[in-house]
Order: sequence, then structure tokens, then C-alpha cells
Amino acid sequence: MNKALLLWLLAASLLFALPALQQGPEPTLLSDDMPLSELLTQLGEAPAIHQARLDLPGVSVERGRELATMGYTTMPSGKRSKRISRYFVCTACHNLEREDPDLSRSDPQARLEYTTKHGLPFLQGTSLYGLVNRRTFYNGDYDKKYGDLVKLARNNLRAAIQLCAVECSQGRELAPWEVESLLAYFWTIELKVSDLGLSANEKQDIENALKGKGDKQQALQILHSHYLSGSPATFVDPPENRKEGYPIEREPDPQNGQLIYENSCLHCHLNQRFSQFNLDRSEDSFRFLSKHISRYSRYSIYQVIRYGTTPLPGKKAYMPHYPLEKMSNEQVEDLRAFIEWQASL
Ligand code: HEC
Ligand code: HEC
Repeated sequence: MNKALLLWLLAASLLFALPALQQGPEPTLLSDDMPLSELLTQLGEAPAIHQARLDLPGVSVERGRELATMGYTTMPSGKRSKRISRYFVCTACHNLEREDPDLSRSDPQARLEYTTKHGLPFLQGTSLYGLVNRRTFYNGDYDKKYGDLVKLARNNLRAAIQLCAVECSQGRELAPWEVESLLAYFWTIELKVSDLGLSANEKQDIENALKGKGDKQQALQILHSHYLSGSPATFVDPPENRKEGYPIEREPDPQNGQLIYENSCLHCHLNQRFSQFNLDRSEDSFRFLSKHISRYSRYSIYQVIRYGTTPLPGKKAYMPHYPLEKMSNEQVEDLRAFIEWQASL
């Protein structure tokens, strides 16, 4: 080829490429801190019915945050609102932070390690982080505990919040501005794109769908496969033989049991924080618990972990039980091994 022609071609192609170079790469549509609900809506999914009604007088994110963490707030009139519960605040039983390394699975051992690493307690209620992204509530066996109350709450987050204010917290019904403020706050702790752990290929597929060059249904499927739309719950009984305990496939691990004692039991029982019944790191605590483990007694860890305690009239704080997804049989045996080890020192 002629040299001049070659140069001319080169110059011409540069000229054409220039505008594209100046524009830089195409803007990315997907960012790590993007709220999940925003992405789902862009892909054509109908928004959740539990959008907070910010138009209602008195509704605010800050009031919602105070209700969740302190149990009361300042009313629109300026006065302090009545406490939701005499006994509990939401954070007695629920985290407000992410608590699972893989949001598509409810795995109590993975959760125990994750919460330990992040300095969070290990609790009976599911984290309220990402709550608004779920579609069903009080799943699995919770209808056994709350019966008809769950029918309303299962598909309705407002009803689920009321159920927990009245029943789980042994408190009072919330006013509409309180429910909407809690919702407004919960929307600030919804899942972000970065929480889902999408692969580069999956991100590419989703970006394409956003640009109208790919399959939106498939993009939605990818997103939903990365988190649970409801927190599962399986209720189980204490071991048939409380002396022998649960038959498990590995040796009990007292060190793992210690994490449960520290991050779960002591969260409520240390210095009687959310309970009249005191537990601490003393010999007395361990001897007392150890003595009752294999008994048919309200002080047996098997009894309280699997059945909880029932609220008594006039003394209505109670202990919520742990379904299998919140404490595995292996973990219960680890806790037992820790308590018996400490009691024997
Ligand atoms: C004494 C313990 C306790 C307290 C206090 C408590 N909850 Fe719960 N809550 C639970 C348990 C146990 C569940 C069972 C379902 C789950 O979370 O997995 C639950 C479930 C829920 C659910 C449904 C979650 C889901 O994904 O199924 C919501 C919503 C909720 N609680 C909100 C609240 C709010 C808001 C407060 C404070 C006003 C509160 N809870 C106080 C123990 C508690
Ligand atoms: C969310 C808070 C909470 C957590 C977590 C918790 N408990 Fe409790 N527990 C309570 C409450 C409330 C009671 C009711 C007794 C009371 O307040 O007097 C109770 C009762 C008990 C009782 C029976 C006491 C009695 O008077 O009948 C035992 C034993 C017990 N808990 C042990 C444990 C152990 C072991 C763990 C850890 C695996 C644990 N608890 C975790 C709140 C909790």
C-alpha cells in the first residue's frame, strides 16, 4: 500500500475516534452504593408496598431510629413519646447491621463468625438491615407461635412491625406516625448493590439489561439469587435425652460455645440488661447453668434455647427461643461444652 494513503487512513481513523476518546468510557449505570430497591425498580420490578409515608405529619427517619434503638422518641408535639415496651428495645433481639456473609443463606455458624468479627451480638431475631428488601415475614414455623397474627404479618411489613411491638416486645401498639417513621429509618438501612457480592459477569449482564441491551427478567433473577426474600425459621425440640444431648457428627467445640455465651446470652443477661435473671462470667453462673443442663427445668439451656420462656402476667419479659437457623444443634452442644468446662475449673 502507498505510504501516503496509509498515513491518510490513520489520520482519518484518529479523527473519528477522537470524539469517543473525549467522552471517556460510557457512564456506569451500576454503582456499589446503589440501593437495591432502586436497581430493582429500574429493571421493571414493582416497588414494595411498604414505602414509608413521609407525607404523614411527624414522620421522620430520626424518630424511627430513636424508636428502634431507644424505644421512644420526641412526639410531633415536642413531648417525649410513651415507651414502646417496659422491657425491651428492638435492638435487644435484632441487629441493625448486616450479619450474614452470604445473604442468600441463613447459616448460624457463618453468622456467628461474621458477627463476632464485626463486634455484633448473635440474636434470635433477624437483622433489620435489609428488612425492607424482604417480601415475607415471620416465615416457616412462626405461625405455630403466633397463629392467626402471622397471617396478617406474613405479607405485610407494617403488620409485622406491629406484631413485634406488641407481642415480641410485650409492648403497645404503635401510632401510624411511629410505624411510618420506623419504615423511613429501615429504608435507610436497605441492602446496597455491594452487599450482594455480584461477579463481574453478573454485573455486566445487569448493566446490559439496564441499557436495554439485555434480558431484564434474567437480571432480576440474578439479583434475587443473591439474597433471601424471607428469613426462614425451623422450630425444633430439645434433645430426647438431655444427659446425652444432641447427637452431632463432630466433637463439641467449647471455644465456639464461648462466642455464643458472650455474644448471645450475655447480651441480655449480663447485669440483668434485658432480663431479671443475671448471668455473668463468674463460677456461680457456670455452676448454676451446668447443674440444670440435663434436667427438665426452666433453667436448662436446652429448654430455654429451644422453647424460650413464656411471658408471665405482671412480669412480662420473656426469652424468645432460637429456631435452628439461629442456633444449630452443634452450636448448642458447643455452648454446653463451654459451660461444663468453665464449671469444672
Ligand atoms: C424480645 C425480642 C424481640 C424484640 C424486643 C423485638 N423483636 Fe422483632 N422479632 C423477634 C423475633 C424472634 C422475630 C422472628 C422472626 C425473625 O426475625 O426471624 C422477630 C421478627 C420481627 C420482624 C419480621 C422480620 C422478618 O424478616 O421476618 C420485624 C419486622 C420485627 N421483628 C420488627 C421489630 C421491631 C420494629 C421491634 C422494636 C419495636 C422489634 N422487632 C422488637 C424478636 C424481637
Ligand atoms: C433477647 C434477650 C435474651 C437472650 C439473647 C437470652 N436470654 Fe435468656 N432470658 C431472657 C429473658 C427476658 C428471660 C426471662 C426471665 C426474666 O427476665 O426474669 C430469660 C430467661 C432465661 C432463663 C430462665 C430463667 C428463669 O427465671 O426462668 C435461662 C436459664 C436463660 N434465660 C438462659 C439463657 C442462655 C443460656 C442464653 C444464651 C443461649 C440466653 N438466655 C439468651 C432474655 C434473653
